[in-house]
Amino acid sequence: MKAIIGGTGIDGDRRFSEGMEWVVNRYGQAMYSVIDGVVFLPRHAPGHAIPPHRINYRANVQALADLGVDSVISIYAVGSITRRMSPGRFGLVRDFIDFAFGRENTFYDGVEAPAKHTPFVTPFDSALKAAFARTAIEAGHPLPVETVYITTNGPRLETPAEIEAFRNMGADIVGMTLATEAELLMEAGIRNAAVAYSINWAAGLDAEGVSFLEDESIRRLSDTLISLALRTFSAIPS
Ligand code: HPA
Repeated sequence: MKAIIGGTGIDGDRRFSEGMEWVVNRYGQAMYSVIDGVVFLPRHAPGHAIPPHRINYRANVQALADLGVDSVISIYAVGSITRRMSPGRFGLVRDFIDFAFGRENTFYDGVEAPAKHTPFVTPFDSALKAAFARTAIEAGHPLPVETVYITTNGPRLETPAEIEAFRNMGADIVGMTLATEAELLMEAGIRNAAVAYSINWAAGLDAEGVSFLEDESIRRLSDTLISLALRTFSAIPS
């Protein structure tokens, strides 16, 4: 089974907000819908009800594992730090830097399961990324750029000095959710390709302050990414 995890901007889509099923597992509650055999999981819950630092990432990933999900395309709205991916563009995530803290980001916490040190040399699934890139090109988009995503804890946005430091560290884009989710998906053995779309220049990069794309542009981008994700899933073996 395949799943799409969606966040900001996508949680208004009816597939991520209507007919939700609730489940409870050992980590807590999660919700998703299943449409034509694909799971749609809104990480913030419909209406963006749960802020990034309070998402129950373990319950969400466990819910996917319990459904037998083997492949995930995870979609993230982000801020742009470099010109590699400017606002209004989307791309694949090549790697991440984790600046989140205080989150339950492992199934192997030494309490419920013994410690385990999962390798992260290849943070995302190469075949799934390649399938997404092929699908995007076939649909008439340019080859998706590959970016480095830095995860901040939020919910506040960053300071200009933080963004400057993150650029010096090699980050192209900034968001508040990817690292925690990617860590748990990897531990759960679920293949994951992360796709990001930028909705603003990060702090200090725009003379006007931080200003976000219009809702309509965000909706168009998120529609495009959901449809590319679904086409990617149809193109790979089930
Ligand atoms: N910073 C952090 N998270 C974000 C941003 C940002 O500028 N834009 C969208 N998610």
